[in-house]
Amino acid sequence: MVKLLSVDEIENLSIEEIWKLYAEYVNPAQVEILSKFSWGRDRFERAEGMYLYTTDGRQIMDFTGGIGVLDHGHNHPRILAARKAYQDKKRMEIHKVIFSPYLAALCHNIAQLLPGDLNKSFFPNSGAEAVEGALKLAYKASFKSADDKRDYILFSDIAFHGKLIGTGTISGKPQKHFDFPRMENTDWFEYGNLESVKKKVAELRRADGSSNVYAIIIEPFHASTATPCSAEFLYGLRELCDNEGIGLIFDEVYSGWGKTGSLFYFMRHEGLLPDVVTMSKSFGGGKSSISAYTARDGIFERAYGPTDSALIHTSTYNGFGEECATALEAIQIIVDEDHPAKARALGEIIVPKLEELMAKYPKQIKERRGAGAFNSIILNSPFKAAEGFLKSVPIGMIKDKTSFLNKMTTAAVVEEMYREHNILAHILDNRDVVMLGVCPSLIAEREHVEHFIASLDKVLEKGLAKVVSGFAARTFKNMIV
Ligand SMILES: Cc1ncc(COP(=O)(O)O)c(C=O)c1O
Repeated sequence: MVKLLSVDEIENLSIEEIWKLYAEYVNPAQVEILSKFSWGRDRFERAEGMYLYTTDGRQIMDFTGGIGVLDHGHNHPRILAARKAYQDKKRMEIHKVIFSPYLAALCHNIAQLLPGDLNKSFFPNSGAEAVEGALKLAYKASFKSADDKRDYILFSDIAFHGKLIGTGTISGKPQKHFDFPRMENTDWFEYGNLESVKKKVAELRRADGSSNVYAIIIEPFHASTATPCSAEFLYGLRELCDNEGIGLIFDEVYSGWGKTGSLFYFMRHEGLLPDVVTMSKSFGGGKSSISAYTARDGIFERAYGPTDSALIHTSTYNGFGEECATALEAIQIIVDEDHPAKARALGEIIVPKLEELMAKYPKQIKERRGAGAFNSIILNSPFKAAEGFLKSVPIGMIKDKTSFLNKMTTAAVVEEMYREHNILAHILDNRDVVMLGVCPSLIAEREHVEHFIASLDKVLEKGLAKVVSGFAARTFKNMIV
């Protein structure tokens, strides 16, 4: 008789039993990596608002913002109620051959909140799928005729658009990473540099002088490095795309829905419109795995307007009922509670406090970046302290020693914040830069920020050399050869 585990049974599994399941059935290396950190050795049982609760009764302040997913905090009561009501009423999920009022209302509401004629939405389940959907739409819309099709996508050198074959291809310069076959006909420009985009568009011109680029994709606020594009760059990009007939895609999967201080980052710039915008993360209210791409009427009509093209981009789970109902409530909360204003107010608390810390620890904090409630600091690695240790680490695991040291410094601080202060913080790692995220859920209050800053102050006061070497000794003691 096959023995299957039930949800009830797993309630009481110890962390060691969960590691064992991961090692045997999920991914052994994940256990190797995560169990090195204190949070990987704790068993979590529930989460509410700003807090996670462990089975041994500890309360941990979650200051990660859930990698962008948790603007509403954990288990927002209105989100839970919306899902419960949906279930209690036995509403339907599948809508392929019948019309879904939830999906229709969600498309309607997004159109009301976005500027211009950004009116047509499609709902996949991940950010990467939203990006791929947007690219397909831009490609199809660029067709002049069956034998006049454009070939190229341009993306930025620091981009992160996801980990599928397509989105992985257009995430950062090719020489940096991505150990997989790459999609053809993509090229990169320098983030925020209009001349670099123009140069690439010119290089890719066809013999008759027409453009061979069908889409340019950019994150107007680049979350994983907390870097914004300038207004001049974004308006310039819009003009270039208009002149060349190129579809302009803004990827706001991370930056969307308020956390940078405007509903979408691009909306702080009067009159600026992409042809397609992608979104996800807090769109699902922290409960629903839903993403979206929203297109302007004209480009949508050219791509999927004809009835023979109407259904060529779909997926099994797109626009599932309960996911849409959850997103409807998530957006309603964003509007009712004015998330962009909350993000700006949080930023006004966070930024001066980070600046005070920078003035106090000029050698330890190199830089601060961010917008609204989405901020980060870059720490200086206490290189000397780690150098000796580094030589003794098996060489295979370190591809880039500088990046490894930066990562280790940030990881050591985050570990110390957790161990000593019961705070879970976020490491933002983009390969180009490693940062300590200061990007809480938008339900955070002044007291949460003050607790975070006071704890970070204590960790820095200890000295990074001490914090990093302590972390290295504890973490890698069994690996030193
Ligand atoms: C800007 C951006 N685009 C796309 C993605 C991919 O989203 P997902 O991980 O849901 O596929 C991410 C993920 O963090 C992102 O930050």
